[in-house]
Amino acid sequence: MKYKSQQVAYWFFALSMLLLALQIVYGFIMGFAHMGFDGLHEIFPFNTSRAVHTNLLVVWILSGFMGAAYYIIPEEAENELVNVKLAYIQLITLALVGVVAIVGYHFNYWEGRKFLEIPRPLDYLVVINVLTFLGLILATLYKGKKRTTTSLVLTMGLVFAALLYLPGMIWFDNQTMDSFFRWWVVHLWVEGVWELIMGGILAFLLIKITGVDREVIEKWLYVIVGLTFISGILGTGHHYYYIGVDKTWLIIGGIFSAMEPLAFLGMALFAVAMYRKGEKSIRIKLP
Ligand code: HEM
Repeated sequence: MKYKSQQVAYWFFALSMLLLALQIVYGFIMGFAHMGFDGLHEIFPFNTSRAVHTNLLVVWILSGFMGAAYYIIPEEAENELVNVKLAYIQLITLALVGVVAIVGYHFNYWEGRKFLEIPRPLDYLVVINVLTFLGLILATLYKGKKRTTTSLVLTMGLVFAALLYLPGMIWFDNQTMDSFFRWWVVHLWVEGVWELIMGGILAFLLIKITGVDREVIEKWLYVIVGLTFISGILGTGHHYYYIGVDKTWLIIGGIFSAMEPLAFLGMALFAVAMYRKGEKSIRIKLP
């Protein structure tokens, strides 16, 4: 670790792992309920466990992404985080909103929209929380000495992820319209902008682990950005069919979703191949 402020990332990681463990606990509660062992039904009805299970998934991934950004951005920008105290406050408030949401689900305080059950007042708190996080990341990048492709792609992913939370907050009276835009959030996250975030994280890790030239790895990031827009956006189409749009979307969506992991695979294989090649040439040079 080069910068002291990167330490905040550990706490985001710890929160992330805690929430993952809790998600698995709720997964087991549902699993047992499916097998007929539903003794906890009064305290954890199936629909509540399901909402908690899927929403925890969203929160622990976001907390992981945030922690990763707090670790990667200072190192890439060559600058300490601009305000470490605020980063800790952001972590605590994120955890608090999560706890209130989960407890609330047990008392039917929710919106009932799969994956985005969080009630509206808490939605606004999430928006403030994410804006604080983005402010810290952007300010650190702005004040930093360097702006690398890795840090820019990662930041771009984080900004788009925040923007794409908003379609899920638009109010529709029509169920189909609501489903359509709720899937924008869920799927343009998973198949679109999260890929930019994961691409940035993977590029950082491969540069650090393999020691392969940054230029080589970062070229793959452009491929990932390109594929995100082609495969991610069109890939979302595999869900459209089920909410009543034309059958063609099933084919387009299916084919393009399947293409999504290819750029990641390419980047990792290329880095490992380059690393092995470098290792060989070092060995040859040695007596
Ligand atoms: C041992 C661990 C786990 C168990 C026992 C478990 C169990 C379950 C069960 C029983 C369901 C189905 C609920 C239903 O019938 O409606 C479910 C749904 C789901 N689980 Fe898990 N789960 C586990 C871990 C995970 C993990 C690690 C993730 C993701 C990181 C995950 C993501 C999901 C998602 C997204 C759904 C909803 C699927 C849909 O609605 O189409 N689960 N889980």
